[in-house]
Amino acid sequence: MNQSNKKNKEFIKNVGVNYFLQESPKNWFEKNTNFEQEETNLANINKLNKIKNIIENIRKYPSELKKSANNLVVFDGSLNAKVIFVGEAPGKEEDEQGLPFVGRAGQLLNKMLKAINLKREEVYITNVVNWRPPNNRTPTDREILEFLPFLQQQIDTINPNYIFLLGNVATKAILSSPLSLAKLRGKWHEYESLKLNKKIYTIASYHPAFLLRSPQHKKASWEDLQMLQKKLKNEE
Ligand code: URA
Repeated sequence: MNQSNKKNKEFIKNVGVNYFLQESPKNWFEKNTNFEQEETNLANINKLNKIKNIIENIRKYPSELKKSANNLVVFDGSLNAKVIFVGEAPGKEEDEQGLPFVGRAGQLLNKMLKAINLKREEVYITNVVNWRPPNNRTPTDREILEFLPFLQQQIDTINPNYIFLLGNVATKAILSSPLSLAKLRGKWHEYESLKLNKKIYTIASYHPAFLLRSPQHKKASWEDLQMLQKKLKNEE
């Protein structure tokens, strides 16, 4: 490099323009996926904020659960995730922090994700019911139906390729099958979104809180997780 080129390069570096210093020039016309992703993220944040706002402020039929809860708990994770994980309802820690799956069950969920090379930040995590039921009781059928439209709207917003249902309540809400979780797990189902006009591969498996109480079901849970991992690998 001759002296004047070197000086030029130093000057460019000093003014903070790094693109020109790359080996090959930046192609400004290439498909800018980051930019597109940012736009999708922004649109999704708006939609999800609207959903949160509606849940929080339904005036005509305010949820009974709101009265005893501290914080609304809607979602955590990525807004352009390929996989949505759906749990039951917030527990004590979730109610305190306003985030799903941050207590003991959440820690196990994080480990389950890690076991199939997924990070919590890469997936979308939500629940069927968004206010903590008193004393962590199971949500009633009426409550499940009350919150189901908001779960469906979240699925439509995120537009995932896969849904992973954690436990009986999520399975009942999304698959609405009379069969038990033991019968439904271990195979792929299809959730049909009318809005997206597509079918989403869905798997039902055990809830992490149940696995903490009944570790003998961890093997089956691991098999279900591996089914998801296989699908994700085939997409690469
Ligand atoms: N159990 C759930 O189903 N969801 C949570 O967010 C926490 C515990």
